[in-house]
Amino acid sequence: MNPIHAPFPLSRSRRLRRTPWMRSLVQETQLSVSDLIWPIFVRDGEGVREPVASLPGVDRLSIDLAVQAAEEAATLGIPVIALFPYTDASNKTPDASEAWNPDNLVNRATRAIKAAVPDIGVMLDVALDPYNSDGHDGLVRDGIILNDETLAALVQQTLAQADAGADILGPSDMMDGRIGIMRQALEANDFPDVAIMSYSAKYASAFYGPFRDAVGAQGALKGDKKTYQMDFANTDEALREVAKDLSEGADMVMVKPGMPYLDICQRVKSEFGVPTYAYQVSGEYAMICAAGQNGWIDQDKAMIESLGAFKRAGCDGVLTYFANRVARMLLDEEY
Ligand code: PBG
Repeated sequence: MNPIHAPFPLSRSRRLRRTPWMRSLVQETQLSVSDLIWPIFVRDGEGVREPVASLPGVDRLSIDLAVQAAEEAATLGIPVIALFPYTDASNKTPDASEAWNPDNLVNRATRAIKAAVPDIGVMLDVALDPYNSDGHDGLVRDGIILNDETLAALVQQTLAQADAGADILGPSDMMDGRIGIMRQALEANDFPDVAIMSYSAKYASAFYGPFRDAVGAQGALKGDKKTYQMDFANTDEALREVAKDLSEGADMVMVKPGMPYLDICQRVKSEFGVPTYAYQVSGEYAMICAAGQNGWIDQDKAMIESLGAFKRAGCDGVLTYFANRVARMLLDEEY
């Protein structure tokens, strides 16, 4: 693009920045409530709201309170909530079988939310890490994360979650071939309408720390996830991952983490033109909150700016722990 413009002073960029109304007239992208996906952590019990130390303002909620959060999200106009379980160590095993227990936490929470708040979308993660005593997303033998054995487990998890009423499944495990086997299993078992938002370009990242704390996987995790999550040095590889996932039946794709990977978001959107999402992950959220709490940055402004960056990069939406807060601000137009 090479805009034709007159030389200074005939052309002055500042004419279009002079007033709020003029700035809003020429604004190229807008963040709206309908772009938001709100991740929520669920735990056992009733009436329990347990703060996550490394995620200020984020709580683990018992199912009854998660239903209330879903009601709040629906009232605010947030289209989707994503549920993650805090699994007690006693439910973690080497075969991660709690992942496909029809009555596990996220499946019970999904049923309760779908019954009480039918107009909100529910998204569930497909990966074994909350349920695996090794803390890995796949099954582990002799220190190796097993690909094909894990696929069989993911199929069972997929079907249990679809049966619970999940609208969107988000495979976050990075095993090869997962999208294809999930899509085939959904078709074969009469769940043709369940959408898959693939964590296609998911990097092995230091920014997931607080999340692992929130789901109770931190202590369990042995080693790192570099044999299945991507190397942060790579870009072309992200495009190959997206291409594979689309060819196997993914409906939407995701880049994760978000803000340090805006180049990937932009390339994915411009090369494929499919619904593209970013996950503003726990470490990104924690950094903004920590600097805000110290008075080093204005937290609300940094939050809005960081989310606006995803829209500018071409994302259709963003998973963010700020979702309810930002929705309120957008609706009040007080930013
Ligand atoms: C699990 C999963 C992770 C996140 C979402 N799903 C952690 C990981 O891969 O270790 C991270 C989300 C966040 O940090 O906010 N497969």
